[in-house]
Amino acid sequence: MKLKIKITLCCVLLAGSASAQKVNINQAFAAAAKQTDVLVKNVDSARLVKPNLVSPRTVEKGQFKMVVSRDWTSGFFPAELWYFYEYTKDKKWLDLAKKYTADIKKEQYNRGTHDLGFMIYCPFGNGYRLTKDTAYKSVIIQAAKSLSTRFNKTAGVLKSWDHNGDKWKYPVIIDNMMNLELLFEATKMTGDSSFYKIAVSHADNTIKNHFRPDFSSYHVVDYDTLQAGNILQKITAQGYANESAWARGQAWALYGYTLCFRETKNNKYLSQADGIAGFILNNEITPADGIPYWDYNDPDIPNVPRDASAAAITASALYELAKYSGNGKKYKAAADKILYFLNKNCTSKIGDNYGFILEHSTGHLPAKSEIDVPINYADYYYLEALLRSK
Ligand code: GLY
Repeated sequence: MKLKIKITLCCVLLAGSASAQKVNINQAFAAAAKQTDVLVKNVDSARLVKPNLVSPRTVEKGQFKMVVSRDWTSGFFPAELWYFYEYTKDKKWLDLAKKYTADIKKEQYNRGTHDLGFMIYCPFGNGYRLTKDTAYKSVIIQAAKSLSTRFNKTAGVLKSWDHNGDKWKYPVIIDNMMNLELLFEATKMTGDSSFYKIAVSHADNTIKNHFRPDFSSYHVVDYDTLQAGNILQKITAQGYANESAWARGQAWALYGYTLCFRETKNNKYLSQADGIAGFILNNEITPADGIPYWDYNDPDIPNVPRDASAAAITASALYELAKYSGNGKKYKAAADKILYFLNKNCTSKIGDNYGFILEHSTGHLPAKSEIDVPINYADYYYLEALLRSK
């Protein structure tokens, strides 16, 4: 709690001059690389004891937590290694990236999750982009085939979760927008437009059903698969309340529609991304450093945790959206500011936190899980934002 208060005060004091402040990318990458050296050592030690735990996820109650390859976050660690290789061109990172990417390969056949974009596209997509290794390409195509099996024609969307069938019938979460990139890519790779069509249908129905008039998003929409257009319920699983705006969900939405515009050039997706950016950036509840509270509508704000992961995803998305939107200057300045404060106030001391780069993310507060902790996807999108800021 002490640390939280210190951070808030510090951020507010510094925010006034933030426009003049930019992260030194070289220094930020060098520090992140040193931390990741520590992380890799911890990963290797943990794997000696439990080889099926392939990827580092978080630190909870002081414990280093590794996950199996079917965990939705398994791809972020190898994907980070690709970003280090991209930035440094150092073979050390290439070798590490190849080694840890291979551990996730079998998930290309996983039909039990919508998260294949995160799990497969983040590591294999970056791996393919940087090496043109055709083995990576076939993993991406197979993963897109697996993901496509989760599409229901009547509902017109991909199913997110198979669990908790007593709570919902055909749940679609806003996070699912992130997995469309895998489908767009598979169409480019194969010439088979079915992946593209599924992605567009999912994105269109999500615009229709997931958003409120102020462009904030529900977390979970439960679809009727018997009658097109029928919605059973709009609720939350990870947010404060059904009608609240869970911070990471807003960030996923922003990133998702930005990538949909990139892949389709359909202005409807650009307008949607602009609207979401407006919700995030004009929201006065967020402290001046741009790092949101975990949920925009928690009544206990300001005495609640922040979510650095939402900030990192937002910064990365804004750098890309800045290239397409008439509000480009504003978005770039906002992304610079967020990145500046993530770097200044949320980076771990070298050697701390088992080697995770950022602190202060919130995974699943209602489940009392991963609150104010380091988490792998925050680190991944932070590195991506650093790369994009150039
Ligand atoms: N996709 C799950 C999360 O953002 O926590």
